[in-house]
Amino acid sequence: MKLLKPTLDHIPAYAAALKRGWSPDNLRQQATQEQLSKISDDAATFVSNLDDPTAKAGPITLPDGSKVARLPSIRRWIWDSEFCGHISLRWKPGTEELPPTCSGHIGYAVVPWRQGEGLATAALVAILPEAKAFGLRYVEVTTSPENPASVRVIEKAGGVLMKAYTADKALGGHETLQYQISLAACG
Ligand SMILES: CC(C)(COP(=O)(O)OP(=O)(O)OC[C@H]1O[C@@H](n2cnc3c(N)ncnc32)[C@H](O)[C@@H]1OP(=O)(O)O)[C@@H](O)C(=O)NCCC(=O)NCCS
Repeated sequence: MKLLKPTLDHIPAYAAALKRGWSPDNLRQQATQEQLSKISDDAATFVSNLDDPTAKAGPITLPDGSKVARLPSIRRWIWDSEFCGHISLRWKPGTEELPPTCSGHIGYAVVPWRQGEGLATAALVAILPEAKAFGLRYVEVTTSPENPASVRVIEKAGGVLMKAYTADKALGGHETLQYQISLAACG
């Protein structure tokens, strides 16, 4: 497994996963069609906005349709002979704190046909040194208690459960587990 910075060269593999019905947004299935439209309109801009450490891509649409300011973020494609999923890191410069509408520093998804191979765990471990390089001392990773695969991924990557809480209404108001992964020993 390697983490790739999104490029135009790999966009056909990414679009193929979207066309198989995979959604890059765990909370919004409609992201599939939205992204296919953006790729067909202007693939170069689409790719350059995916990896966005200066937050140039404009506001984020939340599950309830509201929009909030984008945080700086990077995105990597999980690649193992083919496009297998993605992982992204977002942060507020100078602090580990995040706004209530941001569910953790790291989000990830693996396409259904490549799940259960350890790819999400390997990707989460591999992105931690990048988080440290942006000055973070730890990352928060959240998941639903009803997502045992994600709970397992976080625990295998060293996550320690900090709290259970109800997510912001704009995110759907679901029960959420918040884990912390220390970056002291990584990289
Ligand atoms: C969560 C997700 C990223 C995991 O990806 P993955 O590449 O299959 O994860 P891994 O193979 O690294 O590890 C999965 C672990 O969960 C375990 N697991 C999978 N389904 C499980 C279940 N129903 N109950 C308990 N454990 C489960 C696997 O056995 C494995 O643990 P193990 O290595 O100890 O056997 C993937 O299921 C996914 O993309 N889901 C949809 C998006 C999502 O939920 N993203 C996370 C949002 S917080």
